[in-house]
Amino acid sequence: MSQIKVAESAGFCFGVKRAIEMAYDAIGKESPLYSYGQLIHNKTVTDDLASKGVQIVDSLEGLTEGTLIIRSHGVGKALYDQATEKGLKILDGTCPFVKKIHNIVHEQKEMGRGIIIVGDGSHPEVQGINGWCENSAAILESPEAAQTAQIPPMERYAVVVQTTFRQSKYDQILDILKERGISMEVFQTICSATEKRQNETVELSQSVDKMIVIGGRNSSNTQKLVEICAKNCRNTVHIETICDLVLNNFKKDDKIGITAGASTPPAIIKEVVVTMSEALENAVQNLGGSEEATFEQLLEQSLVTLHTGDVVKGTVIQ
Ligand code: F3S
Repeated sequence: MSQIKVAESAGFCFGVKRAIEMAYDAIGKESPLYSYGQLIHNKTVTDDLASKGVQIVDSLEGLTEGTLIIRSHGVGKALYDQATEKGLKILDGTCPFVKKIHNIVHEQKEMGRGIIIVGDGSHPEVQGINGWCENSAAILESPEAAQTAQIPPMERYAVVVQTTFRQSKYDQILDILKERGISMEVFQTICSATEKRQNETVELSQSVDKMIVIGGRNSSNTQKLVEICAKNCRNTVHIETICDLVLNNFKKDDKIGITAGASTPPAIIKEVVVTMSEALENAVQNLGGSEEATFEQLLEQSLVTLHTGDVVKGTVIQ
């Protein structure tokens, strides 16, 4: 008899859920309603929000009134200033864990320290953090970059890290900075939700025959889960929705693990689990949890299920 196991931490994290909730709450109350960039890396949700009047903007140019939702990745200080100058109302969906980094960077810069951000410089979260120290940070993405980057001499540096960064890689980079003799205060700003999800993914992918990772192609935390799974499980597939799943690739006695990125709505996870379960006539087990509770637990956590219910009902595997 085969098994499907769903990672307990699969899907929305606290910060994403909070920002989505904020946006849905504002619909019908605030108009016009703008989101600064895609609220999350999930097309189902962003299409749903767009159909309910949330307009995505990449700049504030031309906006003269309305409400601006800031997504969980956060933005730099200049954007708040600009929005305020224009008289826009701000709904701040910045994840509190990201906000904490903004505050650290801002205070440390005011104290005259240099700032080092460990993370992906092209990611909006890192760009937003840099915007709280007047875009003055040295950004280090890898141990190689830590070895070769020009870091101007400063008496003391404050080092922060992107919330979704791998702890082991952060440690490596910190070791290199120490070897280079950089005087620094290190802040631990990796999000525990990310750590938990990644650790569970390691455990799950080591114990199954096939792994399904659900999440947006442009979601960096989903990409990291795919990388982790591919290392541990040769049969790893990355899907955005149920439509990408090829059921013929699964056999009746397969042990299947399912996890999902932080922007994946519970409705989409549920749909994959139900379809797989029906196809394989399976019981569903939650990782470390009791049998059969998984669907309801996922649904209970869900906000977007309510808003994307028609998508769930409408999708059919051929
Ligand atoms: Fe916040 Fe962590 Fe999610 S930083 S947005 S709770 S991954």
